[in-house]
Amino acid sequence: MDISIRLENKNDYKAVEHITREVFWDVYKPGCDEHFVLHKIRKVPAFVKELDFVACDKDTIVGNIIYSRAKVLNEENEEFEVLCMGPSTVLPSYQKQGIGALLMKYSIEKANNLGYKGIIIFGNPDYYHLFGFVSAKDYNIQTSWGDDLDEFMALELYHGSLRDISGKFYEDEVFKIENDELEDFEKQFPFKEKHVTDTQLKL
Ligand SMILES: CC(C)(COP(=O)(O)OP(=O)(O)OC[C@H]1O[C@@H](n2cnc3c(N)ncnc32)[C@H](O)[C@@H]1OP(=O)(O)O)[C@@H](O)C(=O)NCCC(=O)NCCS
Repeated sequence: MDISIRLENKNDYKAVEHITREVFWDVYKPGCDEHFVLHKIRKVPAFVKELDFVACDKDTIVGNIIYSRAKVLNEENEEFEVLCMGPSTVLPSYQKQGIGALLMKYSIEKANNLGYKGIIIFGNPDYYHLFGFVSAKDYNIQTSWGDDLDEFMALELYHGSLRDISGKFYEDEVFKIENDELEDFEKQFPFKEKHVTDTQLKL
């Protein structure tokens, strides 16, 4: 298998939305909205097009990763720019072969080259600790609602880059999805049954 990484382009959008819908379906809730977030996010100023990558097996897209600009606000209302990672996906038949790690490491290096200070994510700590993420509370960064969850993590992009950044984290408004706009968007895709499952994750 010869996997390459390149920037995503407009012709890839639909395929990446399909992959994302397949991968996230019923994982965090019945159905999913990550494919709709992707659809919307590419049009907002917070989207970082220089960090929008796809992983390809020859001409076939098998994974992707995106970033958007987000902010940390402290009690004095000072605002700090950080990156928010996600969604990121790898096609199920290509998972556990290092492609997710390749996308993470490649994009982290590019984000560093672009001068960003840090990346904030919600996710599985077992996975993201592999890339150097630590609990965001180590930097006194909390969720927008003031929590310190283990699943809420931060990565410094260079030594000391998050030292002077603390406060509450706010991702772009585009992540707030209304049910009726999602239902409307869903009409473009083949019907899929939604299920409530015992394993649906909270984040
Ligand atoms: C998360 C995801 C992108 C990982 O992609 P992947 O190509 O399977 O990951 P890799 O093969 O590169 O795995 C890298 C390492 O992480 C580990 N790993 C992979 N998925 C993991 C998971 N869900 N939890 C914990 N560890 C995991 C692998 O064992 C591997 O460890 P190793 O280097 O010690 O062997 C992929 O599983 C996926 O698309 N998941 C569903 C969508 C999702 O949850 N995305 C992330 C949130 S936006």
